[in-house]
Amino acid sequence: MKGVILAGGLGSRLQPLTKITNKHLLPIYDKPMIYYPIQTLVDAGINDILIVTGGNNAGDFLRLLGNGKEFGLKEIRYTYQEGEGGIAEALNLAHNFAGDDSIVVILGDNLIEKGIKHAVDSFQKQGTGAKILLKEVDDPERFGVPIIDGDKIVKIEEKPKNPQSNYAITGIYMYDNSVFEIIKTLKPSDRGELEITDVNNAYIEKGSMTYDHIEGWWTDAGTFESLHHASNLVAEKRDAPVTS
Ligand code: G1P
Repeated sequence: MKGVILAGGLGSRLQPLTKITNKHLLPIYDKPMIYYPIQTLVDAGINDILIVTGGNNAGDFLRLLGNGKEFGLKEIRYTYQEGEGGIAEALNLAHNFAGDDSIVVILGDNLIEKGIKHAVDSFQKQGTGAKILLKEVDDPERFGVPIIDGDKIVKIEEKPKNPQSNYAITGIYMYDNSVFEIIKTLKPSDRGELEITDVNNAYIEKGSMTYDHIEGWWTDAGTFESLHHASNLVAEKRDAPVTS
């Protein structure tokens, strides 16, 4: 398995913080945001990592991370998304990097309290298809939301006005190699982007999507409120006594 971190975009919901830097370089408590998804992958045993960035400050990722020595990595790969074509378009830039392998994809502004190793291991046993991770939230209308029937997800709705469940589809996705075939079939949404939710719905229609729940807290950090919340959660985690 290889890991892909999507860290492009203009971060327009965080203006003016993102006027002169990339969202994923902003601080979350004591570290730049991009550190957290890298650590999540490394903790899950994934050492072959591609960062897809974009915007005006792409060179700063290289200055900050280099070859990833701080994370015990031998190298980090980088690629660059021109424009704002959406999460699925950014993911398509990982095609050559992935080769014939399966991939774990993390949106660069997604932070978690605990690990995803159990989910990655179970996806490896699954072998093909896809796996997504859910988290119960108070404000599902901000996210991709699953319609669940029994133990199956029958559809995902992107930012629905009337959410059919209290779960968010988190920005952590596991895909087999057919994801790149699926991306080729996508049409831009009303906002002119290739949507990751359309990728996930294609796997659901094929009957090859599974899901797990995230343990501990999960947050994104793409708005002022969630950026602040993420910093507080990390600060509390740092201060918490070690229990295991
Ligand atoms: C994206 C996805 C959404 C998902 C969310 C998780 O939304 O489109 O389905 O629930 O990430 O962070 P965005 O943050 O781009 O609005």
